[in-house]
Amino acid sequence: MMLERNCREVKVREVRFLGTWDEPSDFVELTLENPGWEAYLPGQFAMLRAKHWGLELPWGRPFSISRVDAESVTFLIQVVGRGTSRLARLRQDEVVIIWGPLGNGFSAPAGTPTLLLAGGMGIAPFRGYIESHPSPEFLHLFFAHRAALDFYPYLVMAEKVRAEAVQEHSTDDLPEIIARIETAMDGYAGGLVLACGPTPFLRTVQAHALKKNIRAELSLEKTMACGVGACLGCVCKDGQGRNVQVCSRGPVFPAADVQI
Ligand SMILES: Cc1cc2nc3c(=O)[nH]c(=O)nc-3n(C[C@H](O)[C@H](O)[C@H](O)COP(=O)(O)OP(=O)(O)OC[C@H]3O[C@@H](n4cnc5c(N)ncnc54)[C@H](O)[C@@H]3O)c2cc1C
Ligand code: FES
Repeated sequence: MMLERNCREVKVREVRFLGTWDEPSDFVELTLENPGWEAYLPGQFAMLRAKHWGLELPWGRPFSISRVDAESVTFLIQVVGRGTSRLARLRQDEVVIIWGPLGNGFSAPAGTPTLLLAGGMGIAPFRGYIESHPSPEFLHLFFAHRAALDFYPYLVMAEKVRAEAVQEHSTDDLPEIIARIETAMDGYAGGLVLACGPTPFLRTVQAHALKKNIRAELSLEKTMACGVGACLGCVCKDGQGRNVQVCSRGPVFPAADVQI
């Protein structure tokens, strides 16, 4: 079943959950019926809200679109609270309300050496990015993670591009991880660096990009309610100190053009 209605120009649809879970997990790949999307830009996101959620969870939750094919759209979700824990326990064929694709995407210039810096669930948008890139031989994935590697789709991505992963076992590992991120970035001074991950991770990337004048784009995470620029719940400051909505002006910003 697929219902459709319009909310301004954003299409809000109801789609079925196509998967099943073997057992409860805090890291899940959520596959939904394709809501009729013919195209999207990797880096864009969607808002999800299970139809049966009651009034105690009135708002949808934002998630990067991980990959899309003709039948389905996939998200990688880490359970951190009420909404994610319910999404990770959906039963087959349960209905999810979805609106998207929302926001902008990462640049994907052909033939440009491009470093993909992913922190934790920030790996999600890079799966589709790698699959759709015009010249994947120019891509290098650097993945920093805390949970075990098999909670993420790293290996399937590493089959397609040059890739390296580093695990943070404790905060003692951070200086070395930061040094490795900065060294990797230095190799892309004439190319492009794309980053998605937790805010401290993005701050490290932004500081080094500005210091070394490296072209970089950062995908920001903010708490969101509407996802379409209306509620002002996700505002941050741009490079000139003006308020901008992360959902509609981002979530991807040039490193020099946003305050995080
Ligand atoms: C553009 C975008 C893309 C995202 N992509 C992914 C993704 O691919 N996979 C994924 O697992 N998560 C992603 N997130 C984060 C995800 O939206 C939050 O983890 C989720 O909304 C939390 O909902 P909850 O009801 O489980 O948590 P709540 O019960 O609402 O809150 C639990 C905790 O999570 C924090 N939190 C709530 N919303 C956010 C948020 N938007 N960002 C960071 N922390 C939050 C709260 O401050 C609180 O500490 C993305 C966020 C944005 C803005
Ligand atoms: S989430 Fe409503 S304005 Fe961004």
